[in-house]
Amino acid sequence: MITLDGTTYQPKAGESVLECLSRHGVSVPSFCQSGVCQTCLMRAVEGDIPARAQQGLKESFKKRGFFLTCVCAADRPLTIERSQAAERFSSRILDVQALSSRVSRVYLERPSGFQFEAGQFVQVIRREDGVRRPYSVASLPSADHIELHVAVFPGGELSPWLSSSVGAQVELEGPFGECVYVPVEPERPLVLAGTGTGLAPLIGVFRAALESGHQGPITLYHGARSASDLYFTDELRSLLSNSQHRIIELMLEGNESEVDSEPLLERRVGDLVDVVLEEQKAPPAARYYLCGAPDLVHRLKKKLYLKGASLDKIHADPFLSRAPQAGA
Ligand code: FES
Repeated sequence: MITLDGTTYQPKAGESVLECLSRHGVSVPSFCQSGVCQTCLMRAVEGDIPARAQQGLKESFKKRGFFLTCVCAADRPLTIERSQAAERFSSRILDVQALSSRVSRVYLERPSGFQFEAGQFVQVIRREDGVRRPYSVASLPSADHIELHVAVFPGGELSPWLSSSVGAQVELEGPFGECVYVPVEPERPLVLAGTGTGLAPLIGVFRAALESGHQGPITLYHGARSASDLYFTDELRSLLSNSQHRIIELMLEGNESEVDSEPLLERRVGDLVDVVLEEQKAPPAARYYLCGAPDLVHRLKKKLYLKGASLDKIHADPFLSRAPQAGA
Protein backbone atom coordinates (compact mmCIF):
# COMPACT_ATOMS: atom_id res chain seq x y z
CA MET A 1 0.00 0.00 0.00
CA ILE A 2 1.25 3.43 -0.94
CA THR A 3 -0.20 6.43 0.86
CA LEU A 4 0.20 9.92 -0.59
CA ASP A 5 -1.65 13.07 0.50
CA GLY A 6 -4.00 10.96 2.66
CA THR A 7 -5.05 8.62 -0.18
CA THR A 8 -3.98 4.98 -0.24
CA TYR A 9 -3.15 3.24 -3.52
CA GLN A 10 -3.04 -0.51 -3.95
CA PRO A 11 -0.10 -1.68 -6.09
CA LYS A 12 -0.15 -4.64 -8.46
CA ALA A 13 2.47 -7.35 -8.09
CA GLY A 14 5.85 -6.25 -9.47
CA GLU A 15 4.96 -2.55 -9.76
CA SER A 16 7.25 0.26 -8.72
CA VAL A 17 5.90 3.14 -6.64
CA LEU A 18 5.99 5.31 -9.77
CA GLU A 19 4.03 2.74 -11.81
CA CYS A 20 1.47 2.31 -9.05
CA LEU A 21 0.86 6.06 -8.70
CA SER A 22 0.78 6.63 -12.47
CA ARG A 23 -1.75 3.81 -12.98
CA HIS A 24 -3.99 5.52 -10.44
CA GLY A 25 -3.73 8.82 -12.33
CA VAL A 26 -1.34 10.50 -9.90
CA SER A 27 1.07 12.72 -11.78
CA VAL A 28 4.71 12.21 -10.77
CA PRO A 29 7.49 13.80 -12.85
CA SER A 30 9.75 11.14 -14.36
CA PHE A 31 12.20 10.76 -17.20
CA CYS A 32 14.65 7.86 -17.34
CA GLN A 33 12.56 5.44 -15.27
CA SER A 34 15.73 3.57 -14.42
CA GLY A 35 17.05 5.26 -11.28
CA VAL A 36 19.45 7.59 -13.03
CA CYS A 37 18.10 11.13 -13.50
CA GLN A 38 16.53 11.71 -10.03
CA THR A 39 13.49 13.39 -11.61
CA CYS A 40 11.05 11.13 -9.73
CA LEU A 41 12.40 11.90 -6.24
CA MET A 42 9.92 11.65 -3.35
CA ARG A 43 10.26 11.33 0.42
CA ALA A 44 9.13 8.48 2.64
CA VAL A 45 7.49 9.66 5.85
CA GLU A 46 6.87 6.09 7.09
CA GLY A 47 8.10 2.69 5.94
CA ASP A 48 11.34 1.03 4.88
CA ILE A 49 12.97 2.14 1.66
CA PRO A 50 14.95 -0.50 -0.26
CA ALA A 51 18.64 0.41 -0.72
CA ARG A 52 18.26 0.23 -4.51
CA ALA A 53 15.80 3.14 -4.39
CA GLN A 54 18.38 5.40 -2.75
CA GLN A 55 21.38 4.49 -4.87
CA GLY A 56 23.25 7.57 -6.08
CA LEU A 57 21.53 9.99 -3.69
CA LYS A 58 23.48 12.26 -1.36
CA GLU A 59 23.89 10.90 2.18
CA SER A 60 21.89 13.82 3.54
CA PHE A 61 19.01 12.95 1.18
CA LYS A 62 19.12 9.28 2.22
CA LYS A 63 18.97 10.20 5.89
CA ARG A 64 15.94 12.42 5.28
CA GLY A 65 14.08 9.57 3.55
CA PHE A 66 14.29 10.70 -0.08
CA PHE A 67 14.09 7.93 -2.66
CA LEU A 68 13.58 7.29 -6.38
CA THR A 69 10.04 6.12 -7.02
CA CYS A 70 10.83 4.53 -10.40
CA VAL A 71 13.11 1.91 -8.86
CA CYS A 72 11.32 1.47 -5.54
CA ALA A 73 9.31 -1.75 -5.47
CA ALA A 74 5.79 -1.03 -4.18
CA ASP A 75 5.84 -4.27 -2.20
CA ARG A 76 5.73 -2.72 1.26
CA PRO A 77 3.60 -0.16 3.09
CA LEU A 78 4.93 3.33 2.48
CA THR A 79 3.59 6.74 3.39
CA ILE A 80 5.21 9.25 1.11
CA GLU A 81 5.19 12.94 0.23
CA ARG A 82 6.25 14.98 -2.75
CA SER A 83 9.86 16.04 -2.84
CA GLN A 84 10.94 19.46 -1.75
CA ALA A 85 14.54 18.31 -1.62
CA ALA A 86 16.00 20.86 -3.93
CA GLU A 87 15.70 24.59 -4.11
CA ARG A 88 13.92 26.07 -7.12
CA PHE A 89 15.17 29.11 -9.01
CA SER A 90 13.84 31.23 -11.86
CA SER A 91 16.04 31.61 -14.89
CA ARG A 92 15.92 32.59 -18.57
CA ILE A 93 17.44 31.25 -21.77
CA LEU A 94 20.07 33.82 -22.75
CA ASP A 95 21.49 32.31 -25.92
CA VAL A 96 21.70 29.11 -27.93
CA GLN A 97 24.55 27.99 -30.19
CA ALA A 98 24.71 24.88 -32.33
CA LEU A 99 27.70 22.74 -31.36
CA SER A 100 26.91 20.01 -33.89
CA SER A 101 23.92 18.82 -35.89
CA ARG A 102 22.56 17.22 -32.70
CA VAL A 103 23.93 19.20 -29.77
CA SER A 104 23.14 22.78 -28.74
CA ARG A 105 24.94 24.89 -26.22
CA VAL A 106 22.30 26.62 -24.13
CA TYR A 107 23.21 29.57 -21.92
CA LEU A 108 20.94 30.28 -18.97
CA GLU A 109 20.87 33.26 -16.70
CA ARG A 110 22.53 32.41 -13.40
CA PRO A 111 19.88 33.01 -10.73
CA SER A 112 21.00 34.92 -7.69
CA GLY A 113 21.69 32.53 -4.82
CA PHE A 114 22.10 29.51 -7.07
CA GLN A 115 25.22 27.71 -5.80
CA PHE A 116 26.70 24.65 -7.48
CA GLU A 117 29.98 22.88 -8.10
CA ALA A 118 31.41 22.31 -11.56
CA GLY A 119 30.16 18.99 -12.96
CA GLN A 120 26.82 18.89 -11.11
CA PHE A 121 23.46 18.73 -12.87
CA VAL A 122 20.18 20.62 -12.62
CA GLN A 123 16.59 19.89 -13.49
CA VAL A 124 15.40 22.35 -16.12
CA ILE A 125 11.63 22.89 -15.94
CA ARG A 126 9.45 24.58 -18.56
CA ARG A 127 7.14 26.98 -16.77
CA GLU A 128 4.03 26.50 -18.87
CA ASP A 129 3.60 22.76 -18.41
CA GLY A 130 6.16 21.61 -15.84
CA VAL A 131 8.02 19.33 -18.26
CA ARG A 132 11.47 18.79 -16.80
CA ARG A 133 14.75 17.21 -17.82
CA PRO A 134 18.14 16.87 -16.13
CA TYR A 135 21.15 18.61 -17.71
CA SER A 136 24.74 18.80 -16.51
CA VAL A 137 26.43 22.16 -16.09
CA ALA A 138 29.56 22.71 -18.15
CA SER A 139 30.37 26.19 -16.85
CA LEU A 140 32.21 27.12 -13.70
CA PRO A 141 30.61 28.44 -10.51
CA SER A 142 32.60 31.64 -11.07
CA ALA A 143 30.77 32.35 -14.36
CA ASP A 144 27.75 34.66 -14.46
CA HIS A 145 25.80 32.24 -16.68
CA ILE A 146 24.99 28.52 -16.73
CA GLU A 147 26.12 26.53 -19.76
CA LEU A 148 24.31 23.33 -20.72
CA HIS A 149 24.93 20.92 -23.60
CA VAL A 150 21.55 19.81 -24.88
CA ALA A 151 21.23 16.77 -27.15
CA VAL A 152 18.32 17.73 -29.39
CA PHE A 153 15.94 14.88 -30.21
CA PRO A 154 13.44 15.62 -33.03
CA GLY A 155 9.95 15.31 -31.58
CA GLY A 156 11.31 15.40 -28.04
CA GLU A 157 9.25 17.08 -25.34
CA LEU A 158 11.81 19.60 -24.12
CA SER A 159 15.10 19.59 -26.04
CA PRO A 160 13.82 21.12 -29.36
CA TRP A 161 12.04 23.84 -27.37
CA LEU A 162 15.07 24.57 -25.17
CA SER A 163 17.31 24.94 -28.20
CA SER A 164 14.95 27.35 -29.98
CA SER A 165 13.49 29.55 -27.24
CA VAL A 166 15.97 32.31 -26.49
CA GLY A 167 14.38 34.65 -23.96
CA ALA A 168 11.98 32.07 -22.52
CA GLN A 169 11.66 31.70 -18.77
CA VAL A 170 12.53 28.38 -17.11
CA GLU A 171 12.74 27.06 -13.58
CA LEU A 172 15.82 25.29 -12.26
CA GLU A 173 15.95 22.73 -9.47
CA GLY A 174 19.15 21.53 -7.94
CA PRO A 175 22.01 21.17 -8.02
CA PHE A 176 22.44 17.39 -7.92
CA GLY A 177 25.27 14.94 -8.51
CA GLU A 178 28.63 13.94 -7.10
CA CYS A 179 30.76 14.32 -10.23
CA VAL A 180 32.64 17.36 -8.93
CA TYR A 181 36.29 18.38 -8.90
CA VAL A 182 37.95 17.60 -5.56
CA PRO A 183 40.71 20.15 -4.96
CA VAL A 184 42.44 18.19 -2.19
CA GLU A 185 45.14 16.36 -4.17
CA PRO A 186 46.46 18.76 -6.84
CA GLU A 187 49.14 16.36 -8.02
CA ARG A 188 46.97 13.29 -8.54
CA PRO A 189 46.35 12.39 -12.21
CA LEU A 190 42.76 12.93 -13.29
CA VAL A 191 41.05 10.67 -15.82
CA LEU A 192 37.77 11.98 -17.26
CA ALA A 193 35.75 9.66 -19.46
CA GLY A 194 32.32 10.12 -20.99
CA THR A 195 30.11 9.67 -24.00
CA GLY A 196 27.79 12.05 -25.85
CA THR A 197 26.75 15.08 -23.82
CA GLY A 198 28.35 13.37 -20.83
CA LEU A 199 31.14 15.64 -22.01
CA ALA A 200 29.44 18.65 -20.34
CA PRO A 201 30.13 17.71 -16.69
CA LEU A 202 33.63 16.56 -17.65
CA ILE A 203 34.30 19.97 -19.20
CA GLY A 204 33.10 21.47 -15.92
CA VAL A 205 35.53 19.29 -13.95
CA PHE A 206 38.39 20.01 -16.39
CA ARG A 207 37.79 23.77 -16.20
CA ALA A 208 37.54 23.66 -12.40
CA ALA A 209 40.81 21.70 -12.16
CA LEU A 210 42.60 24.23 -14.39
CA GLU A 211 41.11 27.15 -12.48
CA SER A 212 42.29 25.76 -9.17
CA GLY A 213 45.82 25.13 -10.50
CA HIS A 214 45.70 21.34 -10.63
CA GLN A 215 49.27 20.11 -11.20
CA GLY A 216 48.77 16.45 -12.09
CA PRO A 217 48.12 15.35 -15.69
CA ILE A 218 44.52 15.43 -16.88
CA THR A 219 43.37 12.96 -19.53
CA LEU A 220 39.93 13.36 -21.08
CA TYR A 221 38.32 10.61 -23.19
CA HIS A 222 35.22 11.58 -25.15
CA GLY A 223 33.40 8.76 -26.92
CA ALA A 224 30.84 8.99 -29.73
CA ARG A 225 29.36 6.69 -32.30
CA SER A 226 30.94 8.45 -35.29
CA ALA A 227 32.94 11.56 -36.20
CA SER A 228 29.76 13.56 -36.80
CA ASP A 229 28.70 12.93 -33.19
CA LEU A 230 31.92 14.39 -31.78
CA TYR A 231 31.52 18.04 -30.86
CA PHE A 232 33.26 20.88 -28.97
CA THR A 233 36.58 20.09 -30.63
CA ASP A 234 37.82 23.72 -30.78
CA GLU A 235 36.94 24.33 -27.15
CA LEU A 236 38.59 21.06 -26.13
CA ARG A 237 41.75 22.11 -27.91
CA SER A 238 41.80 25.35 -25.92
CA LEU A 239 41.88 23.34 -22.68
CA LEU A 240 45.23 21.85 -23.68
CA SER A 241 47.21 24.78 -22.32
CA ASN A 242 49.59 22.40 -20.63
CA SER A 243 51.43 19.75 -22.62
CA GLN A 244 51.02 17.13 -19.92
CA HIS A 245 47.24 17.07 -20.47
CA ARG A 246 45.68 14.90 -23.19
CA ILE A 247 42.30 14.76 -24.89
CA ILE A 248 41.32 11.67 -26.85
CA GLU A 249 38.23 11.58 -29.05
CA LEU A 250 36.95 8.08 -29.73
CA MET A 251 34.60 6.90 -32.44
CA LEU A 252 32.96 3.52 -32.24
CA GLU A 253 32.67 3.57 -36.01
CA GLY A 254 35.02 5.44 -38.31
CA ASN A 255 37.63 5.20 -41.00
CA GLU A 256 41.28 6.10 -41.37
CA SER A 257 40.63 9.51 -42.92
CA GLU A 258 38.80 10.60 -39.75
CA VAL A 259 41.56 9.44 -37.42
CA ASP A 260 44.19 11.86 -36.16
CA SER A 261 42.74 14.61 -38.32
CA GLU A 262 42.71 17.13 -35.47
CA PRO A 263 45.78 19.06 -34.40
CA LEU A 264 46.62 18.67 -30.69
CA LEU A 265 43.75 16.30 -29.96
CA GLU A 266 44.10 12.57 -30.50
CA ARG A 267 41.31 10.97 -32.46
CA ARG A 268 40.86 7.22 -32.86
CA VAL A 269 38.42 4.47 -33.62
CA GLY A 270 37.71 2.40 -30.54
CA ASP A 271 35.47 1.58 -27.61
CA LEU A 272 35.83 4.03 -24.75
CA VAL A 273 35.92 1.38 -22.02
CA ASP A 274 38.55 -0.70 -23.84
CA VAL A 275 40.78 2.29 -24.55
CA VAL A 276 40.62 3.68 -21.00
CA LEU A 277 41.45 0.27 -19.50
CA GLU A 278 44.24 -0.34 -21.98
CA GLU A 279 45.87 3.06 -21.38
CA GLN A 280 45.41 3.41 -17.66
CA LYS A 281 48.07 1.07 -16.36
CA ALA A 282 47.95 2.19 -12.72
CA PRO A 283 44.31 2.75 -11.77
CA PRO A 284 44.99 3.25 -8.03
CA ALA A 285 47.10 6.32 -8.79
CA ALA A 286 44.39 8.37 -10.46
CA ARG A 287 41.04 9.96 -9.66
CA TYR A 288 38.28 9.14 -12.15
CA TYR A 289 35.23 11.02 -13.39
CA LEU A 290 32.81 8.95 -15.47
CA CYS A 291 29.71 10.41 -17.14
CA GLY A 292 27.39 9.19 -19.87
CA ALA A 293 25.23 6.21 -20.68
CA PRO A 294 24.51 4.16 -17.52
CA ASP A 295 25.66 0.79 -18.91
CA LEU A 296 28.99 2.24 -19.98
CA VAL A 297 29.55 4.13 -16.73
CA HIS A 298 28.74 1.07 -14.61
CA ARG A 299 30.91 -1.21 -16.76
CA LEU A 300 33.90 1.12 -16.61
CA LYS A 301 33.51 1.78 -12.89
CA LYS A 302 33.44 -1.94 -12.14
CA LYS A 303 36.48 -2.71 -14.30
CA LEU A 304 38.52 0.15 -12.84
CA TYR A 305 37.65 -1.06 -9.36
CA LEU A 306 38.70 -4.61 -10.25
CA LYS A 307 42.00 -3.20 -11.52
CA GLY A 308 42.64 -1.59 -8.14
CA ALA A 309 41.04 1.86 -8.30
CA SER A 310 39.52 2.87 -5.00
CA LEU A 311 35.76 3.48 -5.09
CA ASP A 312 36.17 6.77 -3.26
CA LYS A 313 38.28 7.99 -6.19
CA ILE A 314 35.71 7.12 -8.83
CA HIS A 315 33.09 9.83 -9.32
CA ALA A 316 30.37 8.49 -11.56
CA ASP A 317 27.23 10.26 -12.77
CA PRO A 318 25.43 8.03 -15.25
CA PHE A 319 22.71 9.70 -17.25
CA LEU A 320 20.79 9.18 -20.43
CA SER A 321 22.59 10.67 -23.39
CA ARG A 322 20.09 9.30 -25.88
CA ALA A 323 16.35 9.79 -26.20
CA PRO A 324 14.26 7.76 -23.80
CA GLN A 325 11.06 6.17 -25.08
CA ALA A 326 9.01 9.20 -24.21
CA GLY A 327 11.26 11.65 -26.07
CA ALA A 328 13.51 14.22 -24.54
S1 FES B 1 12.68 8.80 -13.48
FE1 FES B 1 13.32 7.95 -11.63
S2 FES B 1 15.43 8.35 -11.56
FE2 FES B 1 14.84 9.03 -13.55
